[in-house]
Amino acid sequence: MTIHDILKLGPVMPVIVIDSADKAELLADALLAGGIRTAEITLRTPAAIKAIEKMARNCPDITVGAGTVRTARDAQIAADAGSRFVVSPGTTSSILEGCQSAGLPLLPGAASVSEMMALAEQGYSVQKFFPANAAGGISFIKSLSSPLPDLTFCPTGGITEITAPDWLALPNIVCVGGSWIAPQALIESGDFAKITNRARVAAHL
Ligand code: 3PG
Repeated sequence: MTIHDILKLGPVMPVIVIDSADKAELLADALLAGGIRTAEITLRTPAAIKAIEKMARNCPDITVGAGTVRTARDAQIAADAGSRFVVSPGTTSSILEGCQSAGLPLLPGAASVSEMMALAEQGYSVQKFFPANAAGGISFIKSLSSPLPDLTFCPTGGITEITAPDWLALPNIVCVGGSWIAPQALIESGDFAKITNRARVAAHL
């Protein structure tokens, strides 16, 4: 699958910060029950890689990727754990090379027009716009559709259930990402019914 195919699996990609890998399968089940078929597990906790491994091995219906990938080494570790894709908050040549050599589709982060153009030159026409609200919000992305009509974005950073529809209404948005569907505290407390409810709303945005 290309990164575009993966992002098209739903309007919202949950951005996950997970503290206990033993909750990975329950989390995947909760997301799937609500109709969400992708998960970006961020490499921000010691449990993240184990959680990716468990989801990739035991939950074939969810397409799991690694987020907050910052180095080529991160990309290789994510690939070895079974990640199907990689998301980076910004982009360095080491990340591009790391994902290419690991054979993983990359959603590369960009926050400025120059960064977006540099990525487009290298063939990355689908990009993560991060941090979406802080870096210019909806009006920034709207302004890109005329000069950069061939680029599409997955914005993340500060997007909520309330604001997601405004982003999704733009022609150059492929999907949005956010942590509101499965926040760290709900995963930790085991409130999977609430996560399913949030997933169900998000899947229909
Ligand atoms: C990300 O990594 O994409 C963001 O941290 C998610 O941002 P949010 O917590 O504001 O949804």
